[in-house]
Amino acid sequence: MPASDSDVLVVGGGVIGLACAYRLAAEGADVRLIDASGAQGASWAAAGMLAPISEATFGEAALTRLTVAAVPRFTALAAELEAATGSQVGLRRDGTLVVAFNSDDKAALARLSAFRSEAGLSSEPLTGRQARELEPYLATSVRSGVFAADDLSVNNRAYVTTLRAAAEAVGVAFVHEQVGGLLQSSARTHGAVTVTGVTYEAATTVLCAGSATPKLLDVEVYPVKGQILRLAVPERLSAAGPVLTRTVRGLVRGSEVYLVPRAGGEIVLGATSEQQGHDTTVTAGAVYELLRNAYELLPISSEFAFVEARAGLRPSTPDNGPLVGRVDDGLILATGHYRNGILLSAITSDAVHELAAGRGLGPEWAAFEPTRFARG
Ligand code: GLY
Repeated sequence: MPASDSDVLVVGGGVIGLACAYRLAAEGADVRLIDASGAQGASWAAAGMLAPISEATFGEAALTRLTVAAVPRFTALAAELEAATGSQVGLRRDGTLVVAFNSDDKAALARLSAFRSEAGLSSEPLTGRQARELEPYLATSVRSGVFAADDLSVNNRAYVTTLRAAAEAVGVAFVHEQVGGLLQSSARTHGAVTVTGVTYEAATTVLCAGSATPKLLDVEVYPVKGQILRLAVPERLSAAGPVLTRTVRGLVRGSEVYLVPRAGGEIVLGATSEQQGHDTTVTAGAVYELLRNAYELLPISSEFAFVEARAGLRPSTPDNGPLVGRVDDGLILATGHYRNGILLSAITSDAVHELAAGRGLGPEWAAFEPTRFARG
């Protein structure tokens, strides 16, 4: 059963699909976005850290360059969306404080910080006492810290909601259906078909299906489960001022944990990294470990209200970098953004706009060709 055609069909309505659909429609394309979940996957679970410095790690130089380049693109898009919709996305520029709990954690943080400094990423080493001067509720046992003033955060849910509103305002048509496959013939993609057999034809299909991408195309993307909690600071605790003024990331006996504060008292506490296939069960053990690690760093967190526990599936790739590029004359791939989907959404939408216009991508994308893992 054919439905109507469009210039562009975006498959996937998470943050990458929404940003691409918005960008393409804002530039004048006739865009349809098809998605069954309504951005309730990884984009909704995310913490919204925009953290090229405190997430930079060994062996990911090209990804770090991309995430650094992504920050000004993100802040520009956020301002554009806020102006277009009158909504706020909750961008915060308070920086990120990374702290170490015991002497092994302190040594591990020192190694990471040395690597980040060598990569030209600016951060300031702190003693435990200096870290507590920044965040007075930190445990007295915190041994050391590093302050990354240039890392930001955003309220991921406000951002996704605002992106959708802006996309609707520039004419993106939303189809709430599950895609069952791509329409492909003569080595060319020309749309998608739903699980109920409705076809959507398009000159260009943009595949942004996150961890579900391999169900539609043979690519090396696999789910990494992140369990994440939302807590709320009771008013009686914040009456004298915020309990947490910036994102705090901690190494606690080798485990990573982060606490991301929002205006209004929400604290996002994350996250596990588990290779469990497409399972999104929230487990008692993960909730216990996240709360225990948070308590070790910030004892007052035991008095926070427990609001939500959720699991999302990060779309990972063998080198943790995204897959962005043209696959055939009718198909553009933009997926595999792993831990950085929110941060990379704006810069990816720019790239997809360039590709859709028939142009090539800049050198920052050279390491993220979709074919780089092709076998043989
Ligand atoms: N970027 C945070 C996470 O993946 O948990």
